[in-house]
Amino acid sequence: MSRLVVMNHPLVQEWMSVMRDKRTDTPMFREATNRISELLTLEVVKSFPQKAIVVETPVAVTECEVLNVASLCLVPVLRAGLGMVEGCLRWLPFASVRHVGLARDEETLQSSVYLTKLSAKLNGAHVLVLDPMLATGGTGVETIRMVKEHGAASIQFMAIIASPEGIKRVRETYPDVDLYIACVDDKLNDKGYIVPGLGDAGDRLFGTL
Ligand code: URA
Repeated sequence: MSRLVVMNHPLVQEWMSVMRDKRTDTPMFREATNRISELLTLEVVKSFPQKAIVVETPVAVTECEVLNVASLCLVPVLRAGLGMVEGCLRWLPFASVRHVGLARDEETLQSSVYLTKLSAKLNGAHVLVLDPMLATGGTGVETIRMVKEHGAASIQFMAIIASPEGIKRVRETYPDVDLYIACVDDKLNDKGYIVPGLGDAGDRLFGTL
């Protein structure tokens, strides 16, 4: 079974209250998304390998630990995943960013792919999939399938809010993909929205409510 890391940090809780509040405007919603994405990134990076290098300070020669990740790629799931990119890149500026776009049919809740921008260079990369809302898990499972098909060496999945159903589906389908979640909510409603959730993350990020 994959690793499930649920963050329990006071600053995640602080910014989650901003994201959930229906009165929060788009600029502040973006800010909160970035902040929580940064905190999630700090958590994910704890699992990255490190190596020792020798550094010369103005005073002496010393050994430092640096990240030992040859090829790192962020894959935000359009549209809402775009809101997490800036926060992740702030700490991982050397990562490349490739995109997938999936839309959910509001009736059937089935996800369909409308954009795949994963080049062959993905081969061998470690991939962080970014999607703020892990709801039914349909989009997550399909994204992971595509990323694997394009040759990712390993994958971690980052979400801000997840439903128990979504977590179960991704973990059962891909036991090799670890999940990093800021907050796990109660359930899904009959429209596939997470409850209590925060509504439509894409609309709130891009001001299209
Ligand atoms: N996507 C969203 O933006 N919100 C949800 O609650 C579920 C999926």
